[in-house]
Amino acid sequence: EKGGYDHFMLKEIYEQPSVIKDTYRGRLHANEGLIQMAGIEDNLEKFLNAERIIIVACGTSWHAGLVAEYIFEEFARIPVEVEYASEFRYRNPIINRKDVVIAISQSGETADTMAAIKLAKENGAFVFGVCNVVGSSISRETHAGAYTHAGPEIGVASTKAFTTQITVLTMIALRLAKAKGTLSNSVFHSYLQELEIIPEKVKEALETNERAKEIAAVFKDAPNCLYLGRGYNFPVALEGALKLKEISYIHAEGYPAAEMKHGPIALIDEHMPVIVIAPKQGHYDKIVSNIQEIKSRSGKIIAVVTKGDTQVRELADYIIEIPETSDALSPLITTIPLQLLSYHIAVMRGCNVDQPRNLAKSVTVE
Ligand code: F6R
Repeated sequence: EKGGYDHFMLKEIYEQPSVIKDTYRGRLHANEGLIQMAGIEDNLEKFLNAERIIIVACGTSWHAGLVAEYIFEEFARIPVEVEYASEFRYRNPIINRKDVVIAISQSGETADTMAAIKLAKENGAFVFGVCNVVGSSISRETHAGAYTHAGPEIGVASTKAFTTQITVLTMIALRLAKAKGTLSNSVFHSYLQELEIIPEKVKEALETNERAKEIAAVFKDAPNCLYLGRGYNFPVALEGALKLKEISYIHAEGYPAAEMKHGPIALIDEHMPVIVIAPKQGHYDKIVSNIQEIKSRSGKIIAVVTKGDTQVRELADYIIEIPETSDALSPLITTIPLQLLSYHIAVMRGCNVDQPRNLAKSVTVE
């Protein structure tokens, strides 16, 4: 059942090229320049009239929501807020009929996300679900939705759900951008083409497995770890840290790289591994200077870089090379080596990778 892999988590990491394809199949028509998703087409007016989009979710799904915030605002120019469902439901938020609420949940059973949906509905918002489990409670409670086609995710640590959620949300943003004319035709088409070949690039990113394993062997006993990224890769830093802490029990934190100097930089010494997501597209020069700041304080730098990178290579202690993508789609690629790194560290520490202590696959109590 693990398909020859030692753990479900590893199997699910390796399934990502095919499940991303399953998720866009029949929806993304790159050659025709079309995106067709029934749940969006049927409710297009609601999205186009939305004064803002509020995304509610928990954990990894919340991280996918953060990536989506950047993508929606950039592509479709609709204001987006992303909230932990648990906070949203109890803070008397302002919600009205002109809001579209997107609830993201792999299991479709998360109690806090469910409660946030009910609250949004009571206040007249249109609620759209992005779920993986067909027929789940959240998929039934929402007005409409689009499924991720990740297949069953057994490992407690979410991997393929995350990348398929980003895939669905990217397609929605592109569809809305097309309707609103917020992206030029050529940019719109190039994103469609690029999304279509993303599974190939994810496959290439999986080739970092051996490298991730080597690096895991060096840092497996670290008590702490920092993850840094900027822009689209800030949520990837949060997700990388969550993956490490939940399966290896190493304390890890993700930060937007520029926030370092507002406090966390005090933690840096020669014992602190710092994983920096530094692809060529994006805020490269800025992240290079952040790396210099860490280096001058003797932090150990593990950098995820675009193939052929030279500048970061000179500064970093270890590099992991990934294929080039546009900034906006890069989370689908940069997250792969971070999943592998956490996996190998957890295995080397003798942890129960698929069923970490104190965690359940679906959190049906608040
Ligand atoms: C992390 C993880 C959790 C879930 C969270 C939300 O690897 O699995 O953080 O992402 O409990 O679950 P869903 O998406 O099922 O609502």
